[in-house]
Amino acid sequence: TSTDTDGLNDILIDYPSSTLSGATSSTDSKNAATTPLNWSDPVCLKETSSSSSSKPQMMKLENIVKVNRDTNDFKQKYQEFKAVGKGHSGVVVAGIRLSDSIPVAIKHIPIDKVQYMWVKRDGCYCKEISEVVLMAQAAGLCNGSWENRGVIGLLDVYELEDEVLIIMERPLKAMDLNDFYKMSEGQIPEYEAKTIFQQLVTAALLTHRNGIFHRDLKPDNILVSLVQGNISIRMIDFGCATFRSNQEKQYTELVGAYDFAPPEYYLQGQYSAEPTTVWQIGAMLCSLYGEENFHTMRFINERKPPCDHLSYECKDFLNQCLNIDPRQRPRLSQLVKHPWLTTPTVPHVLLYPYDHHGCSIKESTAALG
Ligand SMILES: Nc1ncnc2c1ncn2[C@@H]1O[C@H](COP(=O)(O)OP(=O)(O)O)[C@@H](O)[C@H]1O
Ligand SMILES: [Mg+2]
Repeated sequence: TSTDTDGLNDILIDYPSSTLSGATSSTDSKNAATTPLNWSDPVCLKETSSSSSSKPQMMKLENIVKVNRDTNDFKQKYQEFKAVGKGHSGVVVAGIRLSDSIPVAIKHIPIDKVQYMWVKRDGCYCKEISEVVLMAQAAGLCNGSWENRGVIGLLDVYELEDEVLIIMERPLKAMDLNDFYKMSEGQIPEYEAKTIFQQLVTAALLTHRNGIFHRDLKPDNILVSLVQGNISIRMIDFGCATFRSNQEKQYTELVGAYDFAPPEYYLQGQYSAEPTTVWQIGAMLCSLYGEENFHTMRFINERKPPCDHLSYECKDFLNQCLNIDPRQRPRLSQLVKHPWLTTPTVPHVLLYPYDHHGCSIKESTAALG
């Protein structure tokens, strides 16, 4: 995995204070983090401001999250328990916010791995933490952008001497899609996969509409929360994300997982935002049903989603996302209307009044604290 700054500096967000009446406050973002999701409508679009622009340009980051530099303040506000995850940028620790016992996840990023971007504010350029800006913009916390509850809630940011701490919501009984797959012993029923992908495609569509290209969609970067049989997902880890400056822009440097990079990166040495996201959605679905870990190169050689037992609609969804030619892949706005996602989910009748995960849910989520 490598990183670049391509695309990070070519869009400077201009947010003069006179235009910020609709910006979301930090209190709102805390509420958003604890409000249950309503996914009954697969595409629930709602603007965060009165502006009708679908191309957000204005944001007021200081209203969303103030970067705090006081270690003692962190210690007074949060208590940490144990690690819930580890990725290439650092460790994520489960904790609580002491004032109200809200479960939080604290991402520790060593200072030498933190990437910054320049943001224009009131005519001056300010250096901001890229991951925080991109995450906030994707979540729709900025004026004129779309509310996107499929992105993890951002609560607080600390920039300390040797590390940056990003404090996020920690949804109840959450685990990443990889762990969810393992907990299900590799047997996720299609109706559950459909629920996950309905939410994921909507979240991806809104992320793109908010002008952000995640670039590293893979099972480790999707959180699945399973409470009383209801699944909700959150997109996490905007460490490889970038602004989607225009639809046609081609990226040449790979940022994110090799396994999930689109074929055009391997075959033509370049890729663009939306076809890549659509590819990665298909690759994640394929990884839930394939016999081996997904790898684009293997897929290019075999050219066949290994999922014979799935419904016709599901296989069609997969084939469309995993088209080797990026120009033939559907747009996200088309994908969200695909029959696999829009036909009602009918679970098989269960013989026992338990969900199929049984007690292993408790076992594996107990580890999350
Ligand atoms: N908000 C969260 N709640 C619970 N677990 C999380 C949360 N954020 C991250 N994790 C866990 O930590 C892992 C690493 O986090 P991530 O942000 O992807 O870091 P990296 O940039 O190092 O890959 C994730 O794969 C997931 O298992
Ligand atoms: Mg990650």
